[in-house]
Amino acid sequence: MAQNWTPSSWRQKPIQQLPEFPDKAALAATEAQLATFPPLVFAGEARRLKKQLASVAEGNAFLLQGGDCAESFVEHGADNIRDFFRSFLQMAVVLTYGAQLPVVKVGRIAGQFAKPRSSNVEVQGGVELPSYRGDIINGIEFSPESRIPDPERQMMAYRQSAATLNLLRAFAMGGYANLENVHKWMLGFVKDSPQGERYRKLADRISETMDFMTAIGITSENQPSLRETDFFTSHEALLLGYEEAFTRVDSTSGDWYATSGHMLWIGDRTRQLDHAHVEYFRGIKNPIGLKCGPSLQPDNLIELIDALNPANEAGRLTLICRFGHDKVAENLPKLIRAVEREGKKVVWSCDPMHGNTITLNNYKTRPFERILSEVESFFQIHRAEGTHPGGIHIEMTGKDVTECTGGARAVSAGDLQDRYHTHCDPRLNADQALELAFLLAERMKSGRDEKRMVVNG
Ligand code: TRP
Ligand code: MN
Repeated sequence: MAQNWTPSSWRQKPIQQLPEFPDKAALAATEAQLATFPPLVFAGEARRLKKQLASVAEGNAFLLQGGDCAESFVEHGADNIRDFFRSFLQMAVVLTYGAQLPVVKVGRIAGQFAKPRSSNVEVQGGVELPSYRGDIINGIEFSPESRIPDPERQMMAYRQSAATLNLLRAFAMGGYANLENVHKWMLGFVKDSPQGERYRKLADRISETMDFMTAIGITSENQPSLRETDFFTSHEALLLGYEEAFTRVDSTSGDWYATSGHMLWIGDRTRQLDHAHVEYFRGIKNPIGLKCGPSLQPDNLIELIDALNPANEAGRLTLICRFGHDKVAENLPKLIRAVEREGKKVVWSCDPMHGNTITLNNYKTRPFERILSEVESFFQIHRAEGTHPGGIHIEMTGKDVTECTGGARAVSAGDLQDRYHTHCDPRLNADQALELAFLLAERMKSGRDEKRMVVNG
C-alpha cells in the first residue's frame, strides 16, 4: 500500500477548486451517509479495465473515452443515455475497423458531475455570483440561492449515477450492443450524411466483413462477443469528499479502490504534485488519467508519474493530452521523449476538445476542423516518435445539438443558438462524433497500408 496514505490523507494537503460549503455539519453528515451506500462499481471490474488499458499501452488496443462535459440532473432520462450509447458504439465499431485493434470503451458518464472553473465568480448584468461548479455542488441557475453549495446534491448525483450505470450495464450485456444493430445504425448515418460518399467505402468493407462472418457461421446467436461489450465509466474526481466516501477496501486483494466509477482522472487545474488530488489518487488502485495541458513541463510530468505509478504498471496511467490544435506540435514531442527516455509505461490519449474552445456570438464553441486537426497532429507526432497514439477523449452527446461549429452538416456561428443545451463545454453532436470516428479510421487505415507497402517492398 502507498506509504502514509489513507482515504482521507488528502485533507492535510493544500487543495484547488474546493467549493466553500456554508454548512459544514450537513456536509459531514452527507459524507458519512454516502460511506454506508453500496459501491457503484467493484474492484474486479476496475482491474479488468486496467488490463485492457495495459494492452493499449503496449500498442495492441485503442481507447475511446467520451461523454458529456458535465452530466446534469434535469437531463437525466432513458433517451439521453440510449442516444449517447448508440453514438458511442457506432464510433467504437468504426474505430475498431480503422485501427484493426480492439477498442476499449470508457464513458464520461455515471458520475461526471463536478466541474473545475477558471474563475470563482460569474458576472451577469453587473451582478456577481459564485460560479456554477456542476450539479453535484450547486445549481446552474443564476441566482444567489442556487449558487450556494448544497451537500444534498451529492445524494442526487449518487442515485443518478446508479440508475445510469444500471441502464448502461443492461444495454451492454442485454442485446442492445449487438454488433449487427450497431452496424445498421451506422449504415443509416452514412446514407443520410452529406459526406456519405466519402464514408461509404469503409462502411461497405465493414458490411462485407460482417457478411463473410455470417457465411462461415459466426453469428451473434453462437458468439456472445458479437452481442455483448465491455463498457466502463469514468469521471474527473474533483470533489474529494464524495470520492473518499466511496473509497473502499477490496476484500480479495486488500487494496483500496475508488468505487464511484471504474476510471478517474485528475484535471489539468488540480495536478500539483504536493496537493490534495495527487495525494488521493496515489492511494487508489484504479486505472487513472492525468490531464496534460501546455503548462506541464517534462520534468514535472516524470515526477507526477513517479508519484502516481511508482511500480510502472502498464494500464495504470493514461495521459490525456489537451494542448490545442496550434500548441500540440510544440508541447507533445517533449513529453513523449521524456516518458520514453525514462521508460515509463503510459497510455497516450488525445483530448482535442479542451484546448480548442473559442467564443462566437457569446457562445463557447469549438470548431470541428480544429478538433480534427489536433487529433491528426497527435497521430502524426506519435508516428514520428515511434510511439502508440493510444486513444481519444472527447465531449459528445447522442443528440442533434448545435454546440460545436462545422462538420459535414455544417453548424455555423449563427446556428449555435438553435440547440445549445450543454451545462458546461460545447460537445460534438451525434453526427459530428461519428464523422470524427470515420475520418480517424480513414487515417489509421492509410497509415497501415503505408506500413504494409514498406514491409512488402
Ligand atoms: N465484443 C466486441 C467488442 O466489444 C464486439 C462488439 C459487440 C462491439 N458489440 C459491439 C464492438 C459494439 C463495438 C460496438 O469490441
Ligand atoms: Mn469540459
